[in-house]
Amino acid sequence: QDSYRNKVFQLYDLTTKLYHYLLLETEHGKNALNYLIKRGFSRDIIEKFNIGYSPSAWDTLQNFLTKRGFSLELIKQAGLVIETDEGRTYDRFRNRIIFPIFDAQGRVIAFGGRVLDDGHPKYLNSPETNIFNKSRTLYNLHLAKQEIRKRRQAILFEGYIDTISAWKAGVYNGVATLGTSLTVEQAKIIKRYADEVVISYDSDLAGQQATYRAIDILLPVGLSVKIAQIPQGLDPDDYIDKYGAESFKSNILGNSITATAFKLQYIRKDFNLKDEAGRLQYLTSALSIISELNHAIEREHYLKGLAEEFNLSFPSLKSDLDQIYYNKR
Ligand code: UTP
Ligand code: MN
Ligand code: MN
Ligand code: MN
Ligand code: MN
Repeated sequence: QDSYRNKVFQLYDLTTKLYHYLLLETEHGKNALNYLIKRGFSRDIIEKFNIGYSPSAWDTLQNFLTKRGFSLELIKQAGLVIETDEGRTYDRFRNRIIFPIFDAQGRVIAFGGRVLDDGHPKYLNSPETNIFNKSRTLYNLHLAKQEIRKRRQAILFEGYIDTISAWKAGVYNGVATLGTSLTVEQAKIIKRYADEVVISYDSDLAGQQATYRAIDILLPVGLSVKIAQIPQGLDPDDYIDKYGAESFKSNILGNSITATAFKLQYIRKDFNLKDEAGRLQYLTSALSIISELNHAIEREHYLKGLAEEFNLSFPSLKSDLDQIYYNKR
């Protein structure tokens, strides 16, 4: 009921404040703060995103919250304390940098915690609760929604750090899908504010696969889609670190390619284009991708590209495409 929800929101708010305080103002948070500073986080940014630190002890949060009148039962239900089979309880987040996750109204509804070294899991997130539905949550939507609405465009990142790094770089319309693949619900939420999404996932295989899947979720919802291409081995945060904010905005976001161009390029690696049979197989798959396009001029654009690249006559490609196109409809 309502009072229950309010109690949990209060609990998350206090937790956020505690972790934030421990990071910025105490000896406990020193290592974490140094880690963040080394990665280019300023105090202002730490404030803006309410970043915090959960100490190594097993019971910091549990003690803090129970002293303030929250029942252990509620703290467990909120996902912040875990109970073992033997009935012992311990804080979920220990020795981690804490990224509060906000709902669209700016209330904390969950947390993500990053290890300070290369331990596993790299990020630990709150479990789903009555209040936190992962598939309906976009990280940073509360701060970005204004700019998304203004530009009618959202930039989609994989996670916390890319979103925050981009914010530092002056990209204020960035949101993130928290590691999981984009859901239809998330796409529909973006659609409330935007007409276009620029996907800016990591350049590794997982990121590229997730990009392909995200395209096929975003397009049916009625969003137009572009893809920002990051050089191999880097993610948006790495890129900004290495080449700077301006380069990220002009060379990466500014040179985003269309969903179709991305797909054509993505499937290429599955074919041996030096070989005639491989080329024909690629062309068949490429035609199938092109046949998904609703506008004749768009289809013609990519068809021309293929005709030129593979030195084929446009009419023959066109007649093959027409066959696929009309079979599909
Ligand atoms: P990445 O592994 O790409 O991490 O995961 P990152 O954001 O680049 O972080 P750094 O730069 O190594 O510190 C992308 C996102 O996927 C989710 C997190 O939301 C993360 O921001 N993720 C990743 C998890 O939820 N759990 C994990 O173990 C790893
Ligand atoms: Mn503060
Ligand atoms: Mn990644
Ligand atoms: Mn990454
Ligand atoms: Mn990264």
